[in-house]
Amino acid sequence: MSQTPGDDRKTLVLTGASRGIGHATVKRFSREGWRVITCSRQEFADNCPWPAGPEDHIRVDLSDQEDVGYAISEIRRRLEANGSELHALVNNAAISPKAEAGARLDSIRTPMHVWRDVFQVNFFAPIMLARGLFKELAAARGSIVNVTSIVGSRVHPFAGTAYATSKAALNSLTREMAADFGPAGIRVNAIAPGEIETAILSPGTEKMIDDIPLRRLGQTAEVADVIYFLCSNQSSYVNGAELHINGGQHV
Ligand SMILES: NC(=O)c1ccc[n+]([C@@H]2O[C@H](COP(=O)([O-])OP(=O)(O)OC[C@H]3O[C@@H](n4cnc5c(N)ncnc54)[C@H](OP(=O)(O)O)[C@@H]3O)[C@@H](O)[C@H]2O)c1
Repeated sequence: MSQTPGDDRKTLVLTGASRGIGHATVKRFSREGWRVITCSRQEFADNCPWPAGPEDHIRVDLSDQEDVGYAISEIRRRLEANGSELHALVNNAAISPKAEAGARLDSIRTPMHVWRDVFQVNFFAPIMLARGLFKELAAARGSIVNVTSIVGSRVHPFAGTAYATSKAALNSLTREMAADFGPAGIRVNAIAPGEIETAILSPGTEKMIDDIPLRRLGQTAEVADVIYFLCSNQSSYVNGAELHINGGQHV
């Protein structure tokens, strides 16, 4: 169901909703009665498993700055129907390029154009979206959740350097934005997943289970629950935090 005039559902804008953690997140918020505006490169799928229409999907390539600018104006236009209020923005989409045969792209071999693409999608697009939707977020005293990663704070066997540093930067950005957006009533937090069962994982991740205190991979729904918590009033005094969702892997 799309937004209709007089519709008083809360609204979430979510990037990267087509699979993995984003997919679980849109299902979680829909279940709670939220309208979810999804953003990714793919077209809206008619067999979408949650109650949405193409009006609630925006096709955008976050690696293209101009396209992000267009998407922001399109989101703002679609929010007009409910008084231009946005209750949550979840910056979830990310890319993690690999070398041949899935090997880690290190700081010596990563081509500069790859590095720039990774930072555009994983770091600059979240800044652009947050700033571009500031007015709507402030109107609803909304919440921003940036999806970072455990690899932002340690070298990982599979995750590349560009990806890791983009996530570290996104965590710093979360702190800065929490300070800058807080006076407008907007909370800004991050979640840092560990090894979650999705397509982004490299073969061999199963071997890391022995180093995870809970001795298992995480599920996308477990991540979506924490994102939902951070966008709800249950976390009304949580601001500038990065929550670990990793079964204790960081200890
Ligand atoms: N899985 C894990 O274990 C893990 C661990 C730590 C952190 N994370 C983080 O969690 C988030 C989600 O991860 P995931 O595993 O669910 O990822 P995923 O399965 O690879 O999904 C990535 C999503 O981002 C979208 N996307 C990618 N490039 C895009 C672009 N240029 N423009 C617009 N959308 C784009 C994709 O949709 P389209 O292909 O349709 O564009 C897709 O919906 C990411 O930020 C990731 O870094 C994941």
